[in-house]
Amino acid sequence: MALIIIAIIVIVLAAAVMMFAGLKRRSSEKGTGRLSGRTRRTDKQARKISSYTGREFEEQALQVAEPSTELAPEEQELLETAVYIEPDADAVGVTRRQFLNRSVIGLAGFGLAGFGGSVLAFLWPSFSSGFGSKINLGAVSDVKQQIKDNNNFFYVPEGRMWVTEYPVGSIEKARATYSAPELEGMEQGLIALYQKCPHLGCRVPECVSSQWFECPCHGSQYNRVGEKRGGPAPRGLDRFAMLVNNQGEFIVDTGTIIQGPPIGTNTTGQEAEGPNCIGEASE
Ligand code: FES
Repeated sequence: MALIIIAIIVIVLAAAVMMFAGLKRRSSEKGTGRLSGRTRRTDKQARKISSYTGREFEEQALQVAEPSTELAPEEQELLETAVYIEPDADAVGVTRRQFLNRSVIGLAGFGLAGFGGSVLAFLWPSFSSGFGSKINLGAVSDVKQQIKDNNNFFYVPEGRMWVTEYPVGSIEKARATYSAPELEGMEQGLIALYQKCPHLGCRVPECVSSQWFECPCHGSQYNRVGEKRGGPAPRGLDRFAMLVNNQGEFIVDTGTIIQGPPIGTNTTGQEAEGPNCIGEASE
């Protein structure tokens, strides 16, 4: 409390000192210094002119407009100083008002340009080949070879997907469950699965020993074509739309995610082919 009172006193005293100093300065703002000889002569002449009558003064002004040789050089010089000459804009430079106006307009322009650029960048179509685009994995035979070379599970990181073989012998069963964009790839013996677990989104790894996918987070299990075999997941692994083009290349559209098959779907009948990585499957 005492500190606050001291602070208030100090502030009041400082304000009083500043006010006193201001008054003192204003009272001392009188003309100082000495006038030059030329100024004194000009003043004298001005006093002489100001003693003219109105008519005489107008005549003097007319003579300035139409210079006459009758005026003494000092008179001529004095009267010419009274003529208003439009200042040269270049010489004067930019006024404060112009500067502020230009600053406001410039800043607004910059802001609008930045906003427009951001909107364009957002709307610009993506031609990249990463996740969200169509990814060409090459010839179907090459993809199958990659799968074999990687223990039957081919991981494609840029597409966040697993690619495995779909047994062609099961395709008739599959037609009853899967949609046309899925079947296009499956009929060629391939399936592209989204790596994200439909339970809570963990990345699901392969289990080489069981030849299933087994989620380490809460134990969901899926067979090699992503059909659910155990755990809390609400469905099989989601997958992508697939197609094979005229050149026989396998293309996965990672921008089109198709929900995994419902619980109970088991078109391939694949059982665990060895020990599970996270324990026995349980529905
Ligand atoms: S996130 Fe995979 S089982 Fe829960």
